[in-house]
Amino acid sequence: MIGSEALPFSKTGGLADVLGALPSALAKLGWDVTLVVPRYRGVSAGNYRETIGLRVGGVPIEVGIFEAPLSDGGRALLIDAPTLFDRETLYGVGNADYPDNPFRFAVLTRAALEWAAHQRTGPSIVHAHDWQAGLAPVYLRSMYADHPKLAQTRSVFTIHNLAYQGVVNSSWMPRLDLPWTLFTIERLEYWNHLSFLKGGIVDADVITTVSPHYAKEIQTADGGVGFEGILRSRADRLVGILNGIDSSQWNPETDPLIPRPYTADDLSGKRAAKAAVLAEYHLPTDDEALNRPVVGMISRMVEQKGLDLIERLAGDLPHLGATFVILGTGEAKYQDLWRWLASQYPNRIGARIGFDERLAHLIEAGSDLFLMPSRFEPCGLNQMYSLRYGTVPIVRRVGGLADTVTDYQPDTPESTGFVFTDYSPWALLNTIRRALTLFQDATAWKALQAAGMRLDHSWDRSAREYVKIYERAINQGRA
Ligand code: ADP
Ligand code: GLC
Repeated sequence: MIGSEALPFSKTGGLADVLGALPSALAKLGWDVTLVVPRYRGVSAGNYRETIGLRVGGVPIEVGIFEAPLSDGGRALLIDAPTLFDRETLYGVGNADYPDNPFRFAVLTRAALEWAAHQRTGPSIVHAHDWQAGLAPVYLRSMYADHPKLAQTRSVFTIHNLAYQGVVNSSWMPRLDLPWTLFTIERLEYWNHLSFLKGGIVDADVITTVSPHYAKEIQTADGGVGFEGILRSRADRLVGILNGIDSSQWNPETDPLIPRPYTADDLSGKRAAKAAVLAEYHLPTDDEALNRPVVGMISRMVEQKGLDLIERLAGDLPHLGATFVILGTGEAKYQDLWRWLASQYPNRIGARIGFDERLAHLIEAGSDLFLMPSRFEPCGLNQMYSLRYGTVPIVRRVGGLADTVTDYQPDTPESTGFVFTDYSPWALLNTIRRALTLFQDATAWKALQAAGMRLDHSWDRSAREYVKIYERAINQGRA
């Protein structure tokens, strides 16, 4: 398995949660899994194993391989190449990607394949994630096509987010050992550029994405971000598998990052978390404040996450009878907006700009409602964490949000949250109001919380779906 970030080593978003959990879930099912990720700055895990020499585009580069065990039997290989990975951030500074990202992630991919090529037996499957690993299926079909250890290997490519397409100048082709014969519209060329994402999509034996709903959306002009045609042409090989949640990390009954554990039957620990989160944000913690609904949001502050809707409601939010607690980093204008709102309404709005795993757990536990008004959302993990923590999600009916949250209807035991469809501030505002009204009805609210807490989003189920895909890729042969 190859990807650019994985817990517990590195994380900027949900990919890290997935790669932190799926390999172990597969190992538990009896698969022999090796996860390959970069050894970024600050990673001290793993024991040094060996150094392998690569040539990428004629440039010699030596990479160290550090190995760390994963729970349930798998192993992680951390690729150590300080000139490429020992940097301030994972992908770039500010809004600018590192200009050598194509090289950095091609080296990651090549290191993984070279390592695999000198094991006793080659892998049955290479599973590549997102554009950073998009060249893995391409290299398997080109430079390793006749390799004694890799010729039989099948590839699976998972799209976590179609918006990140790894589109780079075509001059990268020879610098990444990609022959110009692959620079065609059927293969790697995308509007006269090279697209890593396209490479993964066209060359993988099976393509998956992270929810059934998103699998459909990306085949339409609205959701395909230019890739709908390519994806439709591979529709028979495209499957949506909902992500799971890592219940060793996200479980209110055992979470060490919240003040007291709690269950659906005894939510007193949730109230303690609410007091703690309010205190953390220097918001009032008197009885009145504790009885008032708290709305949480944890988000990469980018266009995908629906922050422009919130911007349009900035004047309304402080007057809804709720308290808001926000955690995130991203575009300066959204960071500034939340900072400004918090400074104007210090008793109703708390904003923390930054990345903070501990606070994320506290917000999930201590909030009554969780806001995810995404413009698009391939899967989304926070709404599933919210459900598990008895925190009722307010979401837009897109992607994985549509697959995981059932809109509240009176006397309907399947209801788990509040869902709106139109991408408009008014639809969002009405839905927040609808949720805040129901919050006043303690019995109905408790039933809604309990319905969400009962759902099983464990990785075990999703991992079994991936196993079916691997078996299919092995049995049906090369696409
Ligand atoms: P995406 O991958 O698009 O950001 P997901 O909902 O799949 O969306 O996953 C986001 C993950 O990153 C969640 O685990 C969330 O808690 C975490 N996260 C996002 N921003 C922050 C932050 N500022 N601090 C801590 N965790 C964060
Ligand atoms: C991406 C998507 C998110 C998904 C995550 C993990 O970052 O934006 O919706 O949950 O990948 O698959």
